[in-house]
Amino acid sequence: MKEIEDPVIQAILGRRSIRRFLQNPVEPEKVDCLMECACAAPSAANSRPWHFVVVDERPVLDALGEAHPYGKMLYQSPLAVVVCGDPGKNDFARLYWEEDCSAAMENLQLAAHALGLGSVWLGVRHNPEREQAIRHILGIPQPIAVLGIAAIGYPDEVKPPHEGIDPGSLHLNRW
Ligand SMILES: Cc1cc2nc3c(=O)[nH]c(=O)nc-3n(C[C@H](O)[C@H](O)[C@H](O)COP(=O)(O)O)c2cc1C
Repeated sequence: MKEIEDPVIQAILGRRSIRRFLQNPVEPEKVDCLMECACAAPSAANSRPWHFVVVDERPVLDALGEAHPYGKMLYQSPLAVVVCGDPGKNDFARLYWEEDCSAAMENLQLAAHALGLGSVWLGVRHNPEREQAIRHILGIPQPIAVLGIAAIGYPDEVKPPHEGIDPGSLHLNRW
């Protein structure tokens, strides 16, 4: 989609998982912007079941890195946002909190890319042991659930943008 210069399209295609980070801290106004964009995600019946734990203290980032077997870049990233959901908020949240919080996570990652930051989504949901470890580190109460962690920082690697439509994924009018 190189011929379309629209910055939103370019941000969507340009976002890649970044797993190497510079040590520079993320400016507070950028953190605010990330959280505002996360909260702008669509949610079923607008139930907005999300909670976010913003982590910028090195010992806590290190503890999260210790707890997540595929999240060792947290030892390097200056920032993480732990995306949680409240399935008990209402009937819509009970059914759709994962979709809602995934949309918030994606908004957060796209905003990070647009601000010159890199990020990677670290899965937590569906791994009770991992979720319990993170719940313990951060003091997340029941019945709040943990969807995942975004490790965030200024990128120390460059990746090419996405392009093309996945072969076999597109079905026209019928399967
Ligand atoms: C639900 C979910 C869980 C993921 N968990 C991890 C993870 O634990 N560690 C990691 O390095 N990347 C993780 N990723 C990132 C994917 O590996 C990555 O998005 C995928 O390889 C595509 O690369 P891209 O993000 O650069 O387009 C996860 C992504 C999703 C959506």
